[in-house]
Amino acid sequence: MKGVVFNVVEEVVTELHGGDAWDDVLVAAGLDGAYTALGNYDDDELLAIVDAAATATGITVEELWRTVGRLALPKLVDRLPESMKQTGDAKSFLLSVNDFIHPQVRALYPEARPPVFEFTERGDELLVVYRSTRRLDALAEGLMVGCGDLFGEVVDVEAVPDCGRPDDEATFSIRVGRGAP
Ligand code: HEM
Repeated sequence: MKGVVFNVVEEVVTELHGGDAWDDVLVAAGLDGAYTALGNYDDDELLAIVDAAATATGITVEELWRTVGRLALPKLVDRLPESMKQTGDAKSFLLSVNDFIHPQVRALYPEARPPVFEFTERGDELLVVYRSTRRLDALAEGLMVGCGDLFGEVVDVEAVPDCGRPDDEATFSIRVGRGAP
């Protein structure tokens, strides 16, 4: 996984719990924490960091991934060129992830291997298939909720139970509502 992902996880943990907390997490995970944005690091290191942070904060790993994803989304967007940032609303931003956002990410961060999403609109509902061998479902959920925050909208994400789908797929049902005025 690209170092930039480690960098935004560090920013989120530091914002929520302070720099010492990040150092404690690294010690608990047995890592030195030297991550450069363009570097490639073992996914297991990220999983160890998130495990240690969840243990330290007393929440589940899934809950921590969701929080990290939600708070990391604007930080990731800040790393995109200015022209990529104004696509109007949460839904169109999310729908652009395969065609604009992650291709741009691959240009900025060579060797990035972002996941693929598949979208089907059904009235007010948007069905999202998330495809990745990493299966960071809760991270994906958090990032999708974060798309709502970006535009002052509420993105409600529910996991759709697996019905014999391939191992590298998860399905979510999404509804986008207006945020508080
Ligand atoms: C529409 C919102 C987005 C969603 C739902 C999303 C989803 C994800 C997920 C779930 C991953 C984890 C890797 C995996 O599952 O295999 C990932 C990876 C990544 N995403 Fe996104 N993402 C979004 C927007 C962005 C933005 C705005 C950036 C801007 C920098 C970004 C940069 C990356 C990078 C660098 C990786 C790591 C890929 C690698 O290291 O191989 N994403 N994304």
